[in-house]
Amino acid sequence: MLVKTIKEVRNIIKQNKLREKTVGLVPTMGYLHEGHLSLIRKAKQDNDFVIVSIFVNPIQFGPNEDFEDYPRDLDRDYKLAIEAGANLIFNPSVEEMYPQEIKTFVEVRDLTENLCGLSRPGHFRGVTTVVAKLFNIVQPDKAYFGQKDAQQVSVISKMVQDLNFDLEIVPCPIVRENDGLAMSSRNVYLKATERKSALLLSQSLFQAQELINKGERNAENIKDFITATLQKDEKCDIDYVKIVDFDTLKDIEILKGNVLVALAVKIGKTRLIDNIIMEVK
Ligand code: PAF
Repeated sequence: MLVKTIKEVRNIIKQNKLREKTVGLVPTMGYLHEGHLSLIRKAKQDNDFVIVSIFVNPIQFGPNEDFEDYPRDLDRDYKLAIEAGANLIFNPSVEEMYPQEIKTFVEVRDLTENLCGLSRPGHFRGVTTVVAKLFNIVQPDKAYFGQKDAQQVSVISKMVQDLNFDLEIVPCPIVRENDGLAMSSRNVYLKATERKSALLLSQSLFQAQELINKGERNAENIKDFITATLQKDEKCDIDYVKIVDFDTLKDIEILKGNVLVALAVKIGKTRLIDNIIMEVK
């Protein structure tokens, strides 16, 4: 079922809640890929009723980012989401979500001040604001997010904790193409040669993982290694290569505990991110 209005979603949710059905939410911006579908399948396993929201959220894009060009294909998304187990696709218009100029924002401090937060000012404020709105509209029991956006998962989890949203955040593993490229709606922007260059993101991370498994603990050495690997291809324009404590998202010098190795790289006009999360002894 395709629903465009907040009022109609709320009515349907109310009926489900009255029948004591559990509700899972998979928030997306559409142009679904196997990563999204894995979230929907997981939500279907865990819940009686699954809602997939498809909304390209203007307030999380910077002025020079790709809001207008962001890929959209509702018919295809609808079919894929239903096949994967969704019961309802919520696809509001921008006017439905933001009928007047918005003056209330949800902002998570500190966790948003590193990694993508440095190069995309205001991005996470837009994400947490729209996700808070979706949580208020849908009132899900569980909400599903992919770990490719590891910082997003941390930031949203903190918002849920701080603002007492009565739901569980379920982080789900990155889904990769056979050759290692992390699935992303933005991969469609890549020309054939750029797609080849994009493989260096996951390759450099996997090689870094091997170094860590062999005992390397110095963050600077690992970052230098990743940077050198990416710089072998002139198409890779590095935004950041960072190693942070996964709980605080602060840079670390020595790897220990729960560690996030994350990078963002521009290839042509396409900004891609990828990461690995490791428990380091
Ligand atoms: O990860 C995304 O696709 C978006 O940031 C989200 C969570 C759907 C909010 O617009």
